[in-house]
Amino acid sequence: MSITAAILGFGGYVPERVFTNRDWEELVDTTDEWIVTRTGIRERRFAAPDEATADLAENAARVALEEAGLDGSDIDEIIVATDTPEVYTPDTAAFLQDRLGAGSIPAYDLGGSGCAGWLQAIDVARARIALHPERILVVGVELISRIISWKERETCVLFGDGAGAVVMGPEGGTAKVLDVVAGTDGSKAGILTLSTGGTRHPFNQEAVTSGAYNHLTMNGREVFREAVRRMSEAAREIIERVGASLADVALVVPHQANQRIIDAVGKELGVEPDRMYSNIASYGNIGSATVPFALWEARRNGRIRPGDLVVAAAFGAGFHWAAAAVQF
Ligand code: UT7
Repeated sequence: MSITAAILGFGGYVPERVFTNRDWEELVDTTDEWIVTRTGIRERRFAAPDEATADLAENAARVALEEAGLDGSDIDEIIVATDTPEVYTPDTAAFLQDRLGAGSIPAYDLGGSGCAGWLQAIDVARARIALHPERILVVGVELISRIISWKERETCVLFGDGAGAVVMGPEGGTAKVLDVVAGTDGSKAGILTLSTGGTRHPFNQEAVTSGAYNHLTMNGREVFREAVRRMSEAAREIIERVGASLADVALVVPHQANQRIIDAVGKELGVEPDRMYSNIASYGNIGSATVPFALWEARRNGRIRPGDLVVAAAFGAGFHWAAAAVQF
């Protein structure tokens, strides 16, 4: 059975500070030319020192609530997808519930799924809405600047900070989530990981001394291959599930990790570049915030119009992947 849920409001937020490829040239052995050619990224936003996850999440959430014409007190549940939470425990959703003045509602994080987290979260939300006709705030938020090594050129230049949000409900709004597909290959957990800080490798003096305590590590080439394969497969599967064809899709919104990955997915699907959404030049990879932020932005800049069928696809640490069909 396919369960549809409505999107009542979209929101997005990125911090003010622009960090360019030239800024990275000052810090690591890289060049603007290498970063642009290999990734398509020209700049990204970084949070100010006094900003943290709940700040970005709150800003995006307020934009989505405003479009929905709702207050925090009208929300029945909050799900936050993030791998970079406000604190280790409790979860970011608890801080957000308090800040938005929401009632004593369920609020919880979906963490650890990397960039696929927000699509997994809207899948959970639509199932919850089918059980109880409620309004759920679903946020994707990331401050990846806080978990990269600022010395490792292989990873640091790829990421940025930002947040995206939607308010979902049983009906109304401007869009409908028609269906979501998702999957996991845990045998590839090691290809993209921040392994210190959990119970296997606790955050202790040894971790601090070795300098390996707070850094995302990745096998770039393998992540690249898996990303293209899994996003393409997931996009095809969701299109089939909703009884559409690629020709019916007005816009594909892929996770923004590398312009070459976006191009390869387009090629694999046979979708021409102007139907593949890209904002990677301005923001880099903002993790679980990427897809909701892009949906918000694409509506604002007219790339998504009423009547459009949009397919969003993402991959992330896990190795996880997911895709959604959204009818505007
Ligand atoms: O949300 C998921 C996040 N991660 C991803 O999606 C990453 C997916 N992978 C990729 O996007 C690409 O694999 C990268 C952008 C990470 C790397 O691009 P690549 O074309 O696969 O390059 P490579 O790893 O094969 O490295 C080529 C060269 C190497 O030098 P040598 O061995 O040829 O001398 C690297 O050391 O480029 C070097 N290199 C750099 N040079 C300048 C790696 N990073 C940099 C850099 N600046 N920032």
